[in-house]
Amino acid sequence: MNYMNSYPRNLRKQNNIMINSKLNLSKKRIFSGIQPTGNLHLGNYLGAIKNWVNLQRDISSIFSIVDLHAITVPQEPSKLKSSTHEVTAAIIASGIDPKKAIVFNQSSVKEHAELAWMFNCVCRIGWLNRMTQFKEKAGKNRENATVGLYGYPVLMAADILLYKATHVPVGDDQKQHIELARDIASSFNNMFARDGQKDFFSLPEPQILGQATRVMSLRDGTKKMSKSDASDASRINLTDTKEEISNKIKKAKTDPHPLPETIEELSTRPEALNLINIYSSLSNQSIDQTLSQFCGQGFSFFKPKLIDLAIETLNPISFEMRKLLNDRKEIDKILRNGADNARKIAEPVLKQVKEIVGFVI
Ligand code: TYM
Repeated sequence: MNYMNSYPRNLRKQNNIMINSKLNLSKKRIFSGIQPTGNLHLGNYLGAIKNWVNLQRDISSIFSIVDLHAITVPQEPSKLKSSTHEVTAAIIASGIDPKKAIVFNQSSVKEHAELAWMFNCVCRIGWLNRMTQFKEKAGKNRENATVGLYGYPVLMAADILLYKATHVPVGDDQKQHIELARDIASSFNNMFARDGQKDFFSLPEPQILGQATRVMSLRDGTKKMSKSDASDASRINLTDTKEEISNKIKKAKTDPHPLPETIEELSTRPEALNLINIYSSLSNQSIDQTLSQFCGQGFSFFKPKLIDLAIETLNPISFEMRKLLNDRKEIDKILRNGADNARKIAEPVLKQVKEIVGFVI
């Protein structure tokens, strides 16, 4: 999409808008975010970060540590700061290169909050009432949930559209939120259409990639692996030691049957399916390939192979992460530099949005 053509012509003339020529919108751009709350786990790594590392090579990429999202539930201030450092260290240790991709913490670019407000005035209450993640997170005590938690997906839409991102690589649990971002973008386009131009925002595509798009709990194959699960044995943290990884996989719930030959047979066995998905993703092979490698074998044969593979992948990441965390000033520098670069894209987009909406700027 050519930005010059998409911007309402009458407003362009009226306001003499500066078009940022560096913003090449015919190109793909990815945006994704991760919350600085607690330990990152294998689900975050396989469902999101690993894909980001592969995508950053060829596509202009922006990754945000979403601290504004984190405070939608209570956070202890000093812990929030150190979690922001830890998550930044974790994604860099996993292979995100801050010289290639923009890495920054969300609250440093105020345009996120400003655009979110404007989208609050576009998004309908009925759309938010359908969000399953809000229902899960708020639980029975919905009246007591913060307005921020309710509006969480509106801020996500602002994150993505502030950079006119075309693709959003996330785990499967975020699909509904990206669909909402598309609804907000398209509603904004229609509300402010001028001269037959309807596409100020293009609609971002979710990218749900790999063999482990929804990593499940090691204790219950029907529940998502999550930071908030009370049982640490339910997840493999990126900071776990070799022994912890080994013990958690040894104790992971399974069933008494040998591994099957086909995906159809596997689909009725949630714990076996989860471990096979994890193995396939870690070894960069298809589920079929993993099944042909292990079919007919029991878990006593399969689990040690999975343990070796998990340790081989995660151990260098936690080692590198610890090294990076020895110099928190350097991490702050990376985040500040990332925020400066993010702002260069965000400021002109927000300025254009304000002009479209009719603000005096
Ligand atoms: P967060 O921090 O909860 O999750 C970060 C990423 O990890 C993925 N993920 C999983 N993938 C597979 N299996 C799992 N068990 C698992 N658990 C988490 C998530 O899908 C996500 O990709 N709301 C976002 C953060 C965000 C964002 C954005 C993402 C804020 N603004 C804009 C994309 C675009 C979230 O889930 O964070």
